[in-house]
Amino acid sequence: MKTIIQNYPNLDEARKRQKTPTNFIETNFNIDCFNRWFEDKTYFIRTYGCQANVRDEETMAGMLNAAGATRVDAENEADIIIINTCAVRENAEDKVYGQIGNLKSIVAKSRRVIALCGCMVEQPEILKKVMDTYPYVQLFFGTHEINQLLQLIYEVSQTQSRIVDVQSKPGEVIEGLPCQRTHPYKAYVDIMYGCDKFCTYCIVPYTRGKERSRRFSDIINECKKLVEQNYQEITLLGQNVNAYGKDLDEKKDFADLLEEVAKLGIPRLRFMTSHPWNFTTRMIDVIAKYDNIMKFIHLPVQSGSDEILKKMGRRYSRQDYLDLVELMRQKIPNLALSTDIIVGFPNESEEQFAQTLDLVDRVKYDSAFTFIYSPRKGTPAANLKDDVTYETKAKRFKTLVEHLEISISASSENMVGKVYPVLVDTVSKTNANMLSGYAENNKLIHFAGPIDLIGKIVNVRVKESHTYSLIGELCHE
Ligand code: SAH
Ligand code: SF4
Ligand code: F3S
Repeated sequence: MKTIIQNYPNLDEARKRQKTPTNFIETNFNIDCFNRWFEDKTYFIRTYGCQANVRDEETMAGMLNAAGATRVDAENEADIIIINTCAVRENAEDKVYGQIGNLKSIVAKSRRVIALCGCMVEQPEILKKVMDTYPYVQLFFGTHEINQLLQLIYEVSQTQSRIVDVQSKPGEVIEGLPCQRTHPYKAYVDIMYGCDKFCTYCIVPYTRGKERSRRFSDIINECKKLVEQNYQEITLLGQNVNAYGKDLDEKKDFADLLEEVAKLGIPRLRFMTSHPWNFTTRMIDVIAKYDNIMKFIHLPVQSGSDEILKKMGRRYSRQDYLDLVELMRQKIPNLALSTDIIVGFPNESEEQFAQTLDLVDRVKYDSAFTFIYSPRKGTPAANLKDDVTYETKAKRFKTLVEHLEISISASSENMVGKVYPVLVDTVSKTNANMLSGYAENNKLIHFAGPIDLIGKIVNVRVKESHTYSLIGELCHE
């Protein structure tokens, strides 16, 4: 099979950031050029990684549906298989290797187009490795080429070549692509793309391009439509939502956006991820002011040690973070807080780790995501020599989780006996008679109820608390 390399990623290119204005592209989404090729095709998409990837999947599904293709839930029934990948840690990549490996058995059966996209292929060495290891993957495209999806699949099918189209570039803001949303009542809305923070451990700024905001009016129009369609929850998405608008001439920031979306009357409004560095008092005031903005903030701290925060390039000190949390707690009663923490950054000392434990004990998080540091080739931290053994990191990880569980359990136990509005999400995975959904503080509650409650907000009294979930009972007023 011939390989056509249209673009190949380059981390040095990806590192470059010019303060150039964002290029806005209005797509004239057009399917006329594919000779109705997609109309009898089926497709399968599997997505790994964060909400940005989930939202990208929705765009890809929207495009394929618009071209007439039909989605299927099993790889072996699909003519087009798309694996949308994540590169944030090695274990995220390992999952993808497992998935592509599994495809081998079904490839021989018929002619399919198998495509790999997302953050993993934005890394030159990883891309080479997957190209060498999995000859049956014919298409590789990056996060900047999603709008080219149909064109690329069609080209592969027509030329029977292998195509690589992965650019490392600041990226544009592309409007007007179709979108097939995953949920009929919960929606993700991208408010910005990329990241300029370049935390020294993180690959995201290289895989997603520069921090660039969508225009205020485009976001509001998308949210308005969702309200009209009776959506119950909107989550505004960005790697650092608090930096929204900094690159625009519109003189609007995240507080303005949050307020305007809240005023549209969506029953529940969430946002993620917040960077402590860009969080303003006005943003906190807006969150406090509107009942439909959920009193839940995901505020990654990463470490409780000033030295480590500095080495990570996080731009705030331990005290800055604690002060911000205090201000939030003062202004927003019943605020639930969650965080991300990395254990075992290169050369993290026992004392520095103890600072993280101390911070966790002080903040008393309601939920948390914890990770063992994973070197990402091309990031500055990956060049640091590391004197901490994996065994020590694993031990610290366990200790950290034990500390976190104290406040997580306490916050769940505190809910017992009280009534919470819950947006009913699904039938519980473990018990077909149980529904589950999230309370305002993002805690998952399971309770018995009829299936037609899915998508509605109902009152649930919490009966039992477990560390990571709660059991409740439907209130019949
Ligand atoms: N933009 C968000 C999160 C991006 S990635 C933020 O800045 O908070 C999600 C989480 O993955 C990060 O918060 C961090 O805790 C973790 N992470 C990122 N790179 C990592 C690495 N190399 N090793 C381990 N964890 C990492
Ligand atoms: Fe990664 Fe830091 Fe950007 Fe978050 S803020 S995506 S951790 S570089
Ligand atoms: Fe993963 Fe890319 Fe998101 S690396 S966490 S899918 S931005």
